Amino acid sequence: GLPWDLAGKRVVVTSGGTREEIDPVRFLGNRSSGKQGHAIAAVAAARGARVTLVTSSDLPVPAAVEAIHIDSARELRDATFAAAAEADVVIKAAAVADFRPTDVSSSKLKKGTGSEPAEIRLERNPDILAELVAGRGSGDVPAGCILVGFAAETGDSSGSVLDHGRAKLARKGCDLLVVNEVGRGTTFGQDVNGGWILDSAGGETPVDRASKDLLASRILDAVVSRAAAPSAR
Ligand code: C5P
Repeated sequence: GLPWDLAGKRVVVTSGGTREEIDPVRFLGNRSSGKQGHAIAAVAAARGARVTLVTSSDLPVPAAVEAIHIDSARELRDATFAAAAEADVVIKAAAVADFRPTDVSSSKLKKGTGSEPAEIRLERNPDILAELVAGRGSGDVPAGCILVGFAAETGDSSGSVLDHGRAKLARKGCDLLVVNEVGRGTTFGQDVNGGWILDSAGGETPVDRASKDLLASRILDAVVSRAAAPSAR
């Protein structure tokens, strides 16, 4: 059976890709399915946590999990901050759109009208994880709240997946970063995931092509270890 090591802990999980409205029928989206975040929510609840899942995904809500459905990054931010105010852990598995359309049309954009949209102008969305890090200890997010980020990376000429992950952990200022290697039949929409769990105190746990349920367990193991060593921050 599963350990009952998150009993009474309040865990917030975000999952799925945000949808940024263009007009009443269209949006900008991404390939995140929500499977990994849903798996984390399910396993955390099974280990005794009180789980709030903030999600854009249509996947079934796991047993004993409270779900809040959102579409856009700004809705995700508002719902996440509302839940984070009393959280022990926030796990940000959602793939947040970095940009949203600057102007949202209140009526459907149509072809053949003589005024077809030549381009979609974009503006930056808030970085919710960065705002959680900045808000920790301010009353918006409890001082001891453990913040977990995700990074989907590919290796390139400037460094490996792990190099990019280490740099992102330092830049983002969260406690744990789950680094997934994109491609090779894992990650987006798939049932398997691979990569590393990096701890800002220096720990690096490789996870090789695991099921999303197994990776969820490994992530929660890292959270429990981190909670037992709060001075590591
Ligand atoms: O910088 P990057 O988008 O790769 O960082 C990914 C992590 O940051 C994820 O945990 C994601 O949920 C979070 N993020 C966020 N708000 C954004 C972009 C990313 O919270 N606007």
